[in-house]
Amino acid sequence: MEAVVLAGGEGTRLRPLTLTTPKPVVPLAGRPFLSFMLDWLARHGVDDALLALGYKAEAVHAVLGDEHHGMRLRYLVEEEPLGTAGPLRLAADEGMLAESGPILVVNGDCLTDFDLSAQLRQHSETGATGTLALAAVEDTASYGVVPTKESGEVEAFLEKQPGPAPTNRINAGTYVLDRSVVDDLIPAGRAVSIEREVFPEIVGSGLYGFPFDSYWIDIGTPDRYMEATYDLLAGRAESELPRRDETDSLIYDASITSGARIGPLSVIGRHCSVGDRSVIERAVLHDDVRVGNDSVVKEAIVATGARLGDRVRVEPDAIIGAGAVVESGAVVESGARVEPGAAFG
Ligand code: GTP
Repeated sequence: MEAVVLAGGEGTRLRPLTLTTPKPVVPLAGRPFLSFMLDWLARHGVDDALLALGYKAEAVHAVLGDEHHGMRLRYLVEEEPLGTAGPLRLAADEGMLAESGPILVVNGDCLTDFDLSAQLRQHSETGATGTLALAAVEDTASYGVVPTKESGEVEAFLEKQPGPAPTNRINAGTYVLDRSVVDDLIPAGRAVSIEREVFPEIVGSGLYGFPFDSYWIDIGTPDRYMEATYDLLAGRAESELPRRDETDSLIYDASITSGARIGPLSVIGRHCSVGDRSVIERAVLHDDVRVGNDSVVKEAIVATGARLGDRVRVEPDAIIGAGAVVESGAVVESGARVEPGAAFG
């Protein structure tokens, strides 16, 4: 079973993290983000994933390699971004898709454990042209809203529109598509949006929804990245993470934190050090981060290789980019962004 994983976006909303690390391999609870999705695909029988990449493709390849727990990983690298449908056309033209059978496509920035096998079964049983997984969310404003008829057929595809939505069901970024959709509806050689240009074309011609109520989140914004982190640490999202400690925190190998207070719900990456009397609370440190003494990091993200001096305060929703240096005594205010490699303070 083959899947196409769309993972070539620039991830602008996750800057400054994505200025140095492409979103698919930004660490989430200490693991490259995409590895959670690959685990989920493998649980549902996918043994061959074609990663459609553009932005910082080599960095993704360098981290994930050519195999993930027995699943073959192949790479399709776009010279120019082809959007969310263009990569399917390119893959078909390059002979990288199976000759027959439906095509499974997933957006590479979701964390979920819904029953993908059931979606695939529904697709073949209904003989649909396309089957879209539909998550239920409280606030639909930043998603494609998908109302369906009683029969399950999609009624409309309302991409990120203002105003009250007719349903709380949204496009969860997992599609099963008949091969004809790619061959007939996706033009070659330019960026094509599957949400804006392809789905509206097949509404009324066999496009079905697959509603589910299991865990689903897209990690495309800092808020949701933190929410996904807390959900993984607290076990609300299924994963193969190592055991958390009694504060629901994860402290990875070779990190020194003995004089500090870590937790609750925090992640300390590999080879970090946190000095005496410092506090890391509901916060994430990626790998190789150093924090001096008497510092406090709360509800914030500190990227790989950053250095924080003594008596530093990092307030909620701040993000410190990779390799940045925060001087002793500095306050990184709530919501601030420190660029990679910058000197702050
Ligand atoms: P933002 O810049 O923060 O909006 O993030 P993004 O670039 O990832 O865009 P968005 O979250 O809307 O993309 C949804 C999914 O499609 C993500 O998994 C992206 O990696 C992927 N994606 C978006 N554009 C492209 C593209 O041009 N090519 C490929 N291969 N994937 C894309």
